[in-house]
Amino acid sequence: MKNSIRVVSGIRSTGETHLGHYFGALKNWIALQHQYECFFFAADWHAFTTEYKDTSHIRSFALNNVADWLALGLHPEKATIFIQSHVPEHAELYLIFSMMTPLGWLERNPTYKEQIQQLQNKDLSMLGFLGYPVLQAADIALYRGTQVPVGEDQLSHLELTREIIRRFNHLYGNLLLEPEALLSDAPKLLGSDGRKMSNSYGNAIYLSDAKKVVIDKVMTYMTDPARKRRQDPGDPFKCPLFTLHQRFSGVPVIHDVISGCQTAGIGCIDCKKKLLESLTPWHDAFLERRHDLTVHPKKVEEILEAGVRKATLEAQKTLLDVRGALKL
Ligand code: TRP
Ligand code: SF4
Repeated sequence: MKNSIRVVSGIRSTGETHLGHYFGALKNWIALQHQYECFFFAADWHAFTTEYKDTSHIRSFALNNVADWLALGLHPEKATIFIQSHVPEHAELYLIFSMMTPLGWLERNPTYKEQIQQLQNKDLSMLGFLGYPVLQAADIALYRGTQVPVGEDQLSHLELTREIIRRFNHLYGNLLLEPEALLSDAPKLLGSDGRKMSNSYGNAIYLSDAKKVVIDKVMTYMTDPARKRRQDPGDPFKCPLFTLHQRFSGVPVIHDVISGCQTAGIGCIDCKKKLLESLTPWHDAFLERRHDLTVHPKKVEEILEAGVRKATLEAQKTLLDVRGALKL
């Protein structure tokens, strides 16, 4: 049953899809599409904010990401799936929002300050990078999104979306809806080095990895750093690999791993082999579904064309109202 709830979310097209994307966002999207009206897109313009110097991969990342989403179970009849830049209305609403968003709000944004710190190899003192949350606000408002599935790190961006929309409504009349975050409570999936799984850390298991690569990555994955020798007991809750078990293994296996690890009953190598028993069949099934889209790229193109048409229709409705409110 679909009701007036509208779900909107995007993923930046800055790399190939990894397990962190799946468990942090896509799995949730796939569940939401059956309950609500959903708009999901590859945020290729958002990728530009940090990749503007070399944009050559963004297009293929966006297309590959969408194909991955479909192979994972996102369904074009359930959700509207598209690429952000194919609906240029995002840019118009972004421009309008940028006229009424105080610079101070953007400069105070904790994610902005943090990213400037973390990505020191990139010159990010650009208008577009500062305006990242304004574009995100436009993404959401364009489809009158009411719920936005995001990770905890995106809460400050969503708060800015709400503030921008509140200000718009205050200035031009109550037209747009303030969205709410749909937070997933799942603990973070950790990468092979124990940090959050991320493209920029080089610690991810990619969906496009060959079977052998996945095995190598798992077998060299970081484990509880305090468990130095086989006979030392370990703490699975301090073990990055265990975050994978929590997603892939069944409850009995998870219980065995917890007690085996805490009593040194199992070694990390056995524990990793156990993980592969559930991860590998899942990944094999994915690769098979994904392969079908690799050999039939037309299928993805057609789905995207239909998605853009549906998204554009909604976007144009909103912009008509917005232009009217602005007396343009
Ligand atoms: N900023 C989001 C992220 O990095 C991606 C994004 C862009 C987004 N536009 C959005 C998420 C709109 C939700 C809604 O994850
Ligand atoms: Fe991690 Fe498993 Fe080793 Fe425990 S036994 S530290 S859970 S890999």
